[in-house]
Parts: sequence; structure tokens; C-alpha cells
Amino acid sequence: MKTVLTYGTFDLLHVGHIRLLERAKALGDYLIVGLSTDEFNAVKHKSSFLPYEQRKEILEAVKYVDKVIPESTWDQKISDVKEHRVDVFVMGDDWTGEFDFLKMHCDVVYLKRTNDISTSILKGRLR
Ligand code: CTP
Repeated sequence: MKTVLTYGTFDLLHVGHIRLLERAKALGDYLIVGLSTDEFNAVKHKSSFLPYEQRKEILEAVKYVDKVIPESTWDQKISDVKEHRVDVFVMGDDWTGEFDFLKMHCDVVYLKRTNDISTSILKGRLR
């Protein structure tokens, strides 16, 4: 069985998220999402519209997602990869190169983002 891991905030779930999750799952058999906690978002100077528990519940209902774990620090990636025996680490191409240090532990894949949609764009339009 091939395990895939990706991270994100996944606030106001949109089609860019769904396409990323679909393509991530297609790279293996079991998809784990590391979901930014509200506290970690604050560290990143981000604040999500929906709280962690709701973002988690929504992600768990997505058919491509098998498990959601909390992302609470920048440094947990290597230990998550080892603990969950991850084969493929996936991020959108806005992060290209940033996680190449994981290549000694698993494959690292950057997927092209969907154009013209993001949580920030949605929030801006709702204002
Ligand atoms: N993503 C994507 N295409 C988009 C938006 C997001 O492929 N149009 C991917 C990101 O590259 C990331 C994952 O979805 O791998 C989670 O992204 P996240 O940062 O939670 O969502 P954004 O919509 O990018 O949020 P923001 O606008 O706050 O940056």
C-alpha cells in the first residue's frame, strides 16, 4: 500500500482544494492530510474562517481523504513521514523546492495549482 501525505489549511473548501486532493490520492492508495491547527495558522499570521474541528470534519467527508492529522509546527514533517510510513509527499506548486529536504525519506511531488481560485480570493469576494 502506498501512502501519500499533504498539508494545508483547507479553509472554505473550494475546487482548487478538491482537485489537489484528487490528484494527490491518485499518486497512491491512502491519503493523509496534515491540517493546520488554528494555533499554527496564528503563527503563520493567517486566520481561517472555519475553526479546525469544522475544517477537519469537512475534509474527512471528502472521498479522496483517508485520514486527517493536525499540523501544529513547521518541524513535524520528517517525523510524520516516518511515523505514517509515507511514500509520497505532495504539495501545490506554490511550494516548489521548499520541501526537497524530504527527498531522503520519500518521493516529493509538487502539483500544479488550479488557476484563479483560492481561499483568499473567496474571502475577498465575500467582503
Ligand atoms: N491549492 C491548489 N489550487 C488552488 C488553491 C490551493 O492546488 N487554487 C492547493 C495548495 O497548493 C495546497 C492545498 O491546495 O497544496 C491547500 O492550500 P491552502 O493554502 O489551504 O489553500 P489556498 O486556497 O491556497 O489558501 P490561501 O488563499 O489562504 O493561501
